Amino acid sequence: QMGLKTTLLGKKIHYFEEVTSTNSIAKEIAVSEEEGTLVIAEVQKGGRGRMGREWVSPHGGIWISVILKPGIPLRHASRLTLVAGLAVANVIRNIGLDARIKWPNDVRINGKKVCGILTEAKAEVDRVDYVVLGIGINVNMDLKDIPESFRAGSTTLKAELGTHIKRVSFLQDFLFELEQQYILFKTQPFSHILNDWLALSDTIGREVKVTTPSRIIEGKAVGVTPDGALVIRKADDTKEEIIAGRCIYARS
Ligand code: BTN
Repeated sequence: QMGLKTTLLGKKIHYFEEVTSTNSIAKEIAVSEEEGTLVIAEVQKGGRGRMGREWVSPHGGIWISVILKPGIPLRHASRLTLVAGLAVANVIRNIGLDARIKWPNDVRINGKKVCGILTEAKAEVDRVDYVVLGIGINVNMDLKDIPESFRAGSTTLKAELGTHIKRVSFLQDFLFELEQQYILFKTQPFSHILNDWLALSDTIGREVKVTTPSRIIEGKAVGVTPDGALVIRKADDTKEEIIAGRCIYARS
């Protein structure tokens, strides 16, 4: 009923007016659902971001979770975050905006965040049973509807483009792009996707400060490992790989 151009993604769609979090619902049903099932909501009351943060999700955005069953080792699950970020950046670029990716998962336009991705996986021993890719895109909402404390550093597609976006056709295009990237992910060496991701990332080459629950690492971002970890060269010239964290660009 959505006129999808995909064959895998969206074969089944659970659509809600309001939920706590599409990711929470997707995780509850993932085991019994087929790969490609989507959970979509107009509004999330308890939208979740990375590192325990809240994700403000009013009317006008795209709040979606994609259930995937790639049968990969758990350590490769974070690769799918890069796959999703690349797909979002590509569709945004197709509507004429200069989308860039900030490691690990923020898609930004003119330095302002327009999309966040929360990847959650469950694994038995080392194989993933499922991966839930939660994608939030700020599309048409008014920034004034977002509490001040969340608004800083954020933007919407509407604000950047200066016009209202047709959300359904944007979502169709996004799902098509995500499916293409997912097929490449399954059939090609990951280095291909990584190269495309690197071409759109604005993190490499920058002075960064990455905060993890246990410490803060400062230095120059010099690369990304095949598992999606950020490689940082510190002042003492040693390198460190960081799997997950909050990345802040230094002003330089
Ligand atoms: C982040 O940048 O911190 C990640 C934000 C992820 C938000 C999306 S919206 C759909 C899905 N459901 C959630 O509760 N979170 C993700």
